[in-house]
Amino acid sequence: MGGHDVKTGEMIVLADGEAIAQYMAKWLTEQALAKKDGPFVLALSGGSTPKRLYQILASEEYAGRFPWANTQFFFGDERFVPADDPASNYNMVETEMLEHVPVPIGNIHRMPTSGDPAAAAAQYQAELQKVYGADTLQPGRPLFDVVMLGLGDNGHTASLFPRQPVLQERKLWVSTCVPDDAPHTRLTLTYPAIHSSRHVVFMLAGAAKKEAFAKVRAGDPAEPASHITTEGELIWLLDKAAAGQ
Ligand code: 6PG
Repeated sequence: MGGHDVKTGEMIVLADGEAIAQYMAKWLTEQALAKKDGPFVLALSGGSTPKRLYQILASEEYAGRFPWANTQFFFGDERFVPADDPASNYNMVETEMLEHVPVPIGNIHRMPTSGDPAAAAAQYQAELQKVYGADTLQPGRPLFDVVMLGLGDNGHTASLFPRQPVLQERKLWVSTCVPDDAPHTRLTLTYPAIHSSRHVVFMLAGAAKKEAFAKVRAGDPAEPASHITTEGELIWLLDKAAAGQ
């Protein structure tokens, strides 16, 4: 049993990115199938690392087994671009997985990306509140079964970027973020929303992640990812290169 934060969370070190994707596909499917007392609520991560996982879940081996109809798919963050933009996380997940599997359309909760970003964030929070069945987060009753996260070179995770006001957000579940070191206005889950989870899983692969991982694992407060916590269990799923082994 792992801990609740980045320093104490369990570390699972595998050979490479492919092994991570295969492990996660199996683990996620088991978690989803084990959820019997309500929908399995998942926050998907974007970026390049989880792409292979999404392809595996859409493959014959998993597509017929994963409980698509009992899973509610949310996004951990999104770039404020149209859904068909190559920079859209929704676009990536749709292309790699969602359009190939029997998931009811109402179970896919895309972050809105038009109009006023703050209004879009509020709209997404309302969508989460509807599935949660309450307007405030209650300890012991997690919003998410699994929150998937990645890690950027600058220590960001989801779209919690260094130096941005969203890092101080303690009330809202979804917020805007305008990075000073990356393109696009973003929408992102906040620390308190991510905290309300049974599992937080960071997936990282490759030597380029080694430095950021070492800082976050040591709890360096300058890295936004260092402040991720969960009332459940935090798991690091990483390859040897990212782990520095
Ligand atoms: C995104 C993310 C982001 C990502 C990291 C790692 O939408 O980009 O959710 O937090 O996970 O930037 O990205 P890579 O997997 O591409 O290295």
